[in-house]
Amino acid sequence: MNYYNEYKIKLLNKASEKKIPIAGEFEITANCNMNCKMCYVHKHNKTKDLSNDDWYNIITQAINSGMLFANFTGGEIFLKNDFMDLYERVYDLGIKIILYTNGTLLSDEVIERLKSRPPEYIAITIYGDSAEMYEKICGYKDGFSRVINNIEKMRLANLNIVLRTIPILETYNNLDNLLELLLKFNLPIENSLYVGPNRYSNKKSDVDRLSPTQLLRYQKMFEEKLKIYFNKPFVNTSNGFNCSAGKSAFFVNWEGKMSICSLFDYPRIDILNSDFKTAWDKLKQSVSQSKKCSDCEKCKFNNLCYVCPAKLYSEGNIEKCSSYLLECAKVRFADKNGKI
Ligand SMILES: C[S@@+](CC[C@H](N)C(=O)[O-])C[C@H]1O[C@@H](n2cnc3c(N)ncnc32)[C@H](O)[C@@H]1O
Ligand code: SF4
Ligand code: SF4
Ligand code: SF4
Repeated sequence: MNYYNEYKIKLLNKASEKKIPIAGEFEITANCNMNCKMCYVHKHNKTKDLSNDDWYNIITQAINSGMLFANFTGGEIFLKNDFMDLYERVYDLGIKIILYTNGTLLSDEVIERLKSRPPEYIAITIYGDSAEMYEKICGYKDGFSRVINNIEKMRLANLNIVLRTIPILETYNNLDNLLELLLKFNLPIENSLYVGPNRYSNKKSDVDRLSPTQLLRYQKMFEEKLKIYFNKPFVNTSNGFNCSAGKSAFFVNWEGKMSICSLFDYPRIDILNSDFKTAWDKLKQSVSQSKKCSDCEKCKFNNLCYVCPAKLYSEGNIEKCSSYLLECAKVRFADKNGKI
């Protein structure tokens, strides 16, 4: 780990102890130029974005409360025509910024502007290794060639890039090719194993996620071929949260509502008609008073389960075990004991 990351983790931990909102994730838009079938936020109808002034107002209040790190996500941030103006205003306040993007919309002008104010890194999700895969998953055939070109341009501009993927049936069925592409890129990879429902439909059936056995294979292939290891399973704390959400981190959704994180878009505290500090106090309270899952406390699979409150919430009940997480943990348990 480099000094910067080490120092950042120390700062995050210290801020969590002191309950300072040091890290904010801002969902700048729910709109997107792609239409991924599993997406938790993108709606089919266009939604109205907040203005840059609205975001700037929220962000400067967050900075006055201690924020040093910001993550801009969407939807697709680069679909918002004036996104770079906001980015530059926030960058010039000294904030370290991470960008989440599908990587298909970065024009040469945007890359030039990023070059003169480089983000900490740009996280790009790779949805496949061909135009066909992009068509199948994202409904956007041209996405593949666009993202490949843009990654090359960003490399030439010396921008830090991190790649992401998502464990769904289409990526799983094409995993060998996808891993080969990722190997060729030779860029850092940041991955998650959980796919949840759309935040607005709450129908798990519309998510093409992997069975527990497929998920284990997906994880192992990343470990074997790319030496990419997934986050360690979370250990439960008094309220079930073993992350910085509601302690030093917060999420603001595309409507300007503060929530726990992008997967746990609750309690949606209005900031636009209130102020940041009041919203943060409410979020802290909501997280600290959150009920712990009683099943997890006595579960023998606890140290092999990737459970966290957001996943339990997405699965339907924050206080109860979910059958999907349980099956995933059981498969890992069987694997560990040589039964797979
Ligand atoms: C919502 S996207 C926004 C940024 C950008 N449009 C992208 O696709 O990377 C942020 C991340 O969430 C992932 N994601 C989308 N739907 C998801 C779901 N249902 N469960 C978990 N992650 C999901 C995406 O693959 C992406 O890595
Ligand atoms: S590119 Fe990102 S925001 Fe757009 S639909 Fe896909 S996952 Fe959702
Ligand atoms: S398997 Fe269920 S009860 Fe056990 S740790 Fe995971 S979510 Fe909790
Ligand atoms: S997804 Fe889970 S671990 Fe990650 S920030 Fe949300 S609650 Fe915390």
